[in-house]
Amino acid sequence: MKDKVLIFDTTLRDGEQALMSSLSVDQKLRIARQLARLGVDAIEAGFPVSSPGDFESVSSIAHEIKGPIICGLARTVEKDILACARAVKPAERGRIHTFIGTSGIHAEKKLRKSEDEILEIVKSSVRLARRHCGDVEFSAEDAGRTGIDFLCRIVEDAIASGAGTINIPDTVGYTTPEYFGGIIDELFNRVPNIDKAVISVHCHNDLGMATANSLTAISHGARQVECTVNGIGERAGNAALEEIVMAIKVRKDLFGLSTSIDTKEIMRTSKLIRELCHMPVQPNKAIVGSNAFSHSSGIHQDGVLKAKKTYEIMTPQSVGLKENRMNLTSRSGSHMVRTRLLDLGYSESEFIMEDIYKKFKDLADKKGTVYDDDLVTLMESKSSDDLKDRFVLEFLNVSSGRGTIPTATARILVDGKLYSEAACGDGAVDAATKAIDRIVGYKISIDSFHLEGITEGREAQGRVSMVARASEGVFTGIGTSTDIVEASALAYMNIVNKIARMKKFKRKLPLIGG
Ligand code: KIV
Ligand code: ZN
Repeated sequence: MKDKVLIFDTTLRDGEQALMSSLSVDQKLRIARQLARLGVDAIEAGFPVSSPGDFESVSSIAHEIKGPIICGLARTVEKDILACARAVKPAERGRIHTFIGTSGIHAEKKLRKSEDEILEIVKSSVRLARRHCGDVEFSAEDAGRTGIDFLCRIVEDAIASGAGTINIPDTVGYTTPEYFGGIIDELFNRVPNIDKAVISVHCHNDLGMATANSLTAISHGARQVECTVNGIGERAGNAALEEIVMAIKVRKDLFGLSTSIDTKEIMRTSKLIRELCHMPVQPNKAIVGSNAFSHSSGIHQDGVLKAKKTYEIMTPQSVGLKENRMNLTSRSGSHMVRTRLLDLGYSESEFIMEDIYKKFKDLADKKGTVYDDDLVTLMESKSSDDLKDRFVLEFLNVSSGRGTIPTATARILVDGKLYSEAACGDGAVDAATKAIDRIVGYKISIDSFHLEGITEGREAQGRVSMVARASEGVFTGIGTSTDIVEASALAYMNIVNKIARMKKFKRKLPLIGG
């Protein structure tokens, strides 16, 4: 147990409180099920007194989820503690997490209480919570800015009153690793009953140090880390669960510690949170960003082809991804292009590397990223006719709005002949792609859809990039327009034409993309 770091997930409480719109009970249950699958030790499911919806979420999660501790938050106020006790009661293992501000600024300005008054509140609240629940956690809010003498007294009294976990939050993300490690050392050295509780940390990311502060705290003896998936949370967020867990795993040589997390579930959990919370993740986000396992530079790609460990400290599979990604760009070397061609099923005798690499470089200079279908087109096209699009969108009319069924009519030129079709859909984009499908006759499923503004103002241009799969493989399509439905339809047409080319060349691309 001494070597295990407990992972206390607060995505549904600290993470959720920072969202633009709150999650429904059903959405919270879906997330809680996935957190249990991920293997977290505790789920902080909400703040029961704050709203009937939050109460219901905590109580439903407590009813259904087995395995992790189900915890609710409560201020050191009787009605909060009693509501929390009722909400977590159905849990196999319930916990009340009660907190009060302890820093000078919180005591004077927010609470208007003296240190002695705060100490009395802590003692009576922890005792009250213990009368209703065997597992109580106490947090000294803003501990990072609390005087160390007072913090030691608070921690000692909270433990003596029955708290089994003491949480030391850096509420405003103000501390630094060295300073925070010093606080944990002081507590271990000066609080006489410290061995009766688990020391937990809860770091915010205002200065970008939440993960570093949490990891330093565990090196100094903390054994619970409070964190959120993708690092979502108040302001700049909380320490990211995936970063803490993977740092402990990858640097076992340094920490000598472990967690109970099934790291292969990390990506699935991250994607669920993005989707339900409408919170995208920056591409270069550690562990879960879309570029976290992509290699772009020619030198790196060459190194990885020779030995993965040259530029990979963990495998993509260890976080639940299928494989790393090599982006083919003008920086990619000929070794990388040759490897990709062989992966695509070509044999060395089918190409002269020097010629194909020159064509590749010209295309990469024009296009940026060269996808698998571009490489196949480079290899297969015999005349400029092979590069022409088989399908051309001539006309698109979409009607959608509140209270109407989205409907689209598309007219497409197919090998010079005009065809027209209409379709309804779940939204404007869905209706447009269904109308296109009816003319084209391909079976395509969209894996991802991404919209970005590429110019500013009311007439801004939007660029849609889509990833879709068909029996010929996985394709990326891009479309640009001031109208986002049109941009989406153009991205879809881009994919349709790539599929048409693969059919013509009688080629298939790998189904995992590239
Ligand atoms: O950041 C914080 O201090 C908190 C406490 C309620 C634990 O979220
Ligand atoms: Zn917090």
